[in-house]
Amino acid sequence: MGNRTLAILKPDCVRKNLIGEVITKITEAGFKIKAMKMTRLSRAAAEGFYEVHKEREFFNSLVDFMTSGPCVPIALEKENAVADFRKLIGSTDPSEAAEGTIRKLFAESKQFNIVHGSDSDENAAIEIAHFFPRKELLENYND
Ligand code: CMP
Repeated sequence: MGNRTLAILKPDCVRKNLIGEVITKITEAGFKIKAMKMTRLSRAAAEGFYEVHKEREFFNSLVDFMTSGPCVPIALEKENAVADFRKLIGSTDPSEAAEGTIRKLFAESKQFNIVHGSDSDENAAIEIAHFFPRKELLENYND
């Protein structure tokens, strides 16, 4: 068993009909989907999820964006999941993202950047628990 990371296909990804293409890139890169759902975040849930950024000037617009439509949180597993996923998605700012990364291909800006990835193992565990009760992660998967 590898370790885990949380991806969120953000509302811009859903609006642009890119869910399938992005999930294909994720699974082709060797990640296993452990849990997944489509959900619309409440303001309180988005503020809680992005709590570490609450003093930043972009906080309110980030929360507006993340609550603007449905998103798709996905718990992923792979060896070296956090680092490998961040490599697959590329830099937060798509203009700085490496060729072939998901953000280079699809993202418009630092805000409308298609996908979230956890930045550490510790945050991955917290973020996965934010969306998926332990029971759901265990029951949906048999290997
Ligand atoms: P994410 O990986 O979801 O975690 C924090 C988010 O804040 C980040 O992706 C960006 O979408 C957003 N963000 C970071 N910097 C900026 C910025 N300068 N302006 C707007 N949004 C930002």
